[in-house]
Amino acid sequence: MNRFSFYNPTRLYFGKGTLDKLKGELAHRGKNILLVYGGGSIKRNGVYDGITAVFRELGVTAHELSGVEPNPRLSTVREGVELCKRERIDFILAAGGGSVIDCVKAIAAGACYDGDAWDLITFKAPVKAALPFGTVLTLAATGSEMNTSSVITNWETQEKLGWGSPFVYPQFSILDPEFTYSVPRDQTIYGMVDIMSHVFESYFNHTANTPVQDGFCETLLRTVIETAPKLLEQLDRFEHRETILYCGTMALNGMVSMGLTGDWATHNIEHAVSAVHDIPHGGGLAILFPSWMEHVLDEGPAKFRRFAVNVFGIDPAGKSDREIGLEGIQALRAFWTSIGAPARLADYGIDDSTVETMADKAMAGGPFGNFKKLDREDVLAIYRRSL
Ligand code: NZQ
Ligand code: ZN
Repeated sequence: MNRFSFYNPTRLYFGKGTLDKLKGELAHRGKNILLVYGGGSIKRNGVYDGITAVFRELGVTAHELSGVEPNPRLSTVREGVELCKRERIDFILAAGGGSVIDCVKAIAAGACYDGDAWDLITFKAPVKAALPFGTVLTLAATGSEMNTSSVITNWETQEKLGWGSPFVYPQFSILDPEFTYSVPRDQTIYGMVDIMSHVFESYFNHTANTPVQDGFCETLLRTVIETAPKLLEQLDRFEHRETILYCGTMALNGMVSMGLTGDWATHNIEHAVSAVHDIPHGGGLAILFPSWMEHVLDEGPAKFRRFAVNVFGIDPAGKSDREIGLEGIQALRAFWTSIGAPARLADYGIDDSTVETMADKAMAGGPFGNFKKLDREDVLAIYRRSL
């Protein structure tokens, strides 16, 4: 393992009815609260009513910023920052999926900075403070509810950039599986692909002696694989929503990545696709991850063998590590196809004509990835393998 320190201060409230914790959490957060949400799903599933009832009970002044886009945009961040400064907001509540939470992270940091929030996202200026915020999560996918990451799209420059800071840990996150009942089938699928992809980003590493982390990762992967078809049969089945919601948080709250150097190349490659084509993050990952795996297989066939055998139960008898690994990658493709995830960039109407542009965007920060350091040729090969 690598040397590491671990600290995650987000208080998690998990389970049925946990919105009853909101009142206690907000009671000491000031009187001026900003509620941030997306395109209106929280108004249809009762979450908005539950939250605003608490605001009324506490007698707080509630401001609202709605319309946060999936793949949240810098323009919305700027609007939120301006609102926070103008109204002297004390505390922000994000209610929605990863996009709403990511947007709130940028607003929270931007509200404590004199310049443009884009400076913080591009690391031109360090984050020195952020307004405190909490979350009510409504979609299992990103882990943003318990981590310091945020991904913001600057639509003018077609850049989708990840950034993070210890100042943007949510103070608390409320996760009630029932709030995810109304997540549509496609978003449920994208969420499960994203969760598995976060595990892959940690799992495929070259760090020595990580048996517990490997085991955590394999358990999460097997659990999503076993649960996905059952959940998709019945989208409002409590225990399946509960299982996936828990997997989502654990996949990217630091638990499975302690003491190891994860890869994260595929996320970078996907963000460049979303930046140019505005496709759902999980949809892009379903297309790109198997291609990345095939491209890097020879960097660590033994790890791919372990993945194939322990996650998909591939029979290793009489085969090389490479052959077993390839069978594991094929099993992953087949599994994602079986649950209805896209398999090719063509599924989003993306052809060779934008591959060079996407590669330029992916390469903006230079070569990346740790399982295999990818250069522009590698990135182009992965895109072309995915067409
Ligand atoms: O906008 P509303 O009306 O709320 O609808 C949303 C949105 O259309 C809908 N939705 C959410 N909860 C719902 C619901 N619909 C019905 N019932 C509910 N309970 O789902 C749609 C997608 O929401 P979004 O928040 O965009 O999805 P997700 O949570 O997958 O977040 C995706 C964003 O997170 C970034 C992605 O790049 C993308 O921008 N990521 C953030 C990470 C992080 N902060 O750690 C890591 C990830 O790897 C990822 O990159
Ligand atoms: Zn992701």
